[in-house]
Amino acid sequence: MEAVVVDRVNQFEGRAALITGGARGLGRAFGRALAALGAHAVLTDVDEAEVDKAAHEITEAGGQASAYRLDVADDAAWDLVLTDVAAAHGGVDILINNAGLHSLEYGVNWAQLPVSKLRRLFDVNVMGVMIGTLAVRPHMQGRPGANILNISSSAAFNGMGAYGATKAAVRALTLAWARELGPSGIRVNALAPGLHVTDTIRNEFTPEMIEGHRHHQFLDLEGNEQDIVDAMLYFCSDKARFVTGETMRVTAGYASSL
Ligand SMILES: NC(=O)c1ccc[n+]([C@@H]2O[C@H](COP(=O)([O-])OP(=O)(O)OC[C@H]3O[C@@H](n4cnc5c(N)ncnc54)[C@H](O)[C@@H]3O)[C@@H](O)[C@H]2O)c1
Repeated sequence: MEAVVVDRVNQFEGRAALITGGARGLGRAFGRALAALGAHAVLTDVDEAEVDKAAHEITEAGGQASAYRLDVADDAAWDLVLTDVAAAHGGVDILINNAGLHSLEYGVNWAQLPVSKLRRLFDVNVMGVMIGTLAVRPHMQGRPGANILNISSSAAFNGMGAYGATKAAVRALTLAWARELGPSGIRVNALAPGLHVTDTIRNEFTPEMIEGHRHHQFLDLEGNEQDIVDAMLYFCSDKARFVTGETMRVTAGYASSL
């Protein structure tokens, strides 16, 4: 019988992981976790001050990180960032397309959303994933274990407003890109979180809303950042070398219960 191998320590050593929306919430947690396991976390966000702070927190703790201001919907900005990242790291090993607009205002009826808001929502949540993947793709060529993780949502499974439509598009893109990039050895997967109480969620949702969401889960638990971080660590690691094109729900059953 083959021995069971437990080798998580420094499993991302020498890898450059670019994370969008890395200033706070899930993106910041992804950066911290990957850096703690040896990666260089390239944190990017529209919020320059906060993303600088998030990277500084990692380096203060002894990890490797850098920060860039990047609007995911701006293709010229991607090129500038990647020129710098490629010079520093030779390429990108992991891309986490995490940045997304997800405030409650996007969950309303379509008719209540002005076209300008709809356009920006799709620009960030859908075009951002597409532009980012196109921009990073050449920098992943020939890098063993290279992979992309998109952050979708439970809303992709239940037709929840314009936001849900953008996250369903992220699921579709995940499969399409997995097919296209498979021959280059690049895996593409997605996570569909349920409700995970980040600072943003805490500021936007009342305790009653969080409790109400929990009632629709199979498991009576409050989702947190670590639930998504743990799933991310699997998909982004070589442990998932045989997995591509998947969107995994991490929702305590919520996404299946409506
Ligand atoms: N937290 C949850 O419960 C939950 C559930 C389902 C899906 N998600 C998805 O997970 C991702 C992260 O969620 P979160 O809760 O950490 O969000 P958050 O709002 O706390 O953080 C999102 C980050 O993205 C940045 N951002 C926004 N627009 C950007 C743009 N155009 N370019 C670059 N950065 C931009 C923001 O400045 C912010 O730092 C989002 O895609 C969200 O839709 C979250």
